[in-house]
Amino acid sequence: MRIVITGANRGIGLELVRQCLKRGDSVIATAREPEQARELQSLAASSPELTVLACDVGDDSSVRAFAAKVKGPVDALINNAGVMGAMTSLAGLDAADALKTYSINALGPLRVTGALLPQLRLGKGKKVLHVTSGMGSISDNTSGGAYGYRMSKAALNMGSRSMAADLRSDGIRVAVINPGWVKTDMGGAGASIDVATSAAGILAQLDALSAETSGEFLDYGGKRWEW
Ligand SMILES: NC(=O)c1ccc[n+]([C@@H]2O[C@H](COP(=O)([O-])OP(=O)(O)OC[C@H]3O[C@@H](n4cnc5c(N)ncnc54)[C@H](OP(=O)(O)O)[C@@H]3O)[C@@H](O)[C@H]2O)c1
Repeated sequence: MRIVITGANRGIGLELVRQCLKRGDSVIATAREPEQARELQSLAASSPELTVLACDVGDDSSVRAFAAKVKGPVDALINNAGVMGAMTSLAGLDAADALKTYSINALGPLRVTGALLPQLRLGKGKKVLHVTSGMGSISDNTSGGAYGYRMSKAALNMGSRSMAADLRSDGIRVAVINPGWVKTDMGGAGASIDVATSAAGILAQLDALSAETSGEFLDYGGKRWEW
């Protein structure tokens, strides 16, 4: 399988790359600054199946330039790149930061998927997974706060649902997935699971993604989330 993974220089994305290479996939991993992505570059030095390309998912021209470098079919795309943004109170809302978070978390996966559509249509796998968050669930939100992040992931969920409907006739299956609360720079050391567990669960759900589950809100552990 030839798979594209965004935000792959650290955290969940980097572990997804490691596990995909281990199981024999061919991987195109993106980073905003590939020359700074030491772990990815060292993996690439020993893995002929890994290509590292620059892509800032918050920037139209960067995404277009990236997609132009991806030649041939792509079987699966994991839109993993994301930011937490400022965790401000309602009174202290930083609207500019919330807009930036929206551009990266909600529009980023749309930019990348749209730009890679020709390659995805050529691929045999025809799967797109967007990494969302349990914090993007409206029905699960009883604790409030995190406005920019929560709203960006809820918007991503809606975008994924539309995309699943729009791409159904192409045979491309699309879903959002909650990776769990993961020990990364974003999740923090106190998170409940490690990157290996999260990435393994995400890949299991990617493998299982079907016409029946396209459009759903999945979880790394296999359960279904309420919107
Ligand atoms: N960790 C958790 O508990 C948790 C829970 C729910 C959902 N998630 C989601 O899981 C995904 C991965 O999170 P993580 O925990 O691995 O976070 P992380 O360790 O902070 O890594 C985030 C990744 O996204 C990249 N990124 C940020 N902005 C980008 C942009 N504009 N263009 C391209 N790449 C960009 C980062 O690249 P740079 O190094 O260049 O910044 C980095 O590679 C995110 O979508 C996050 O919202 C995480």
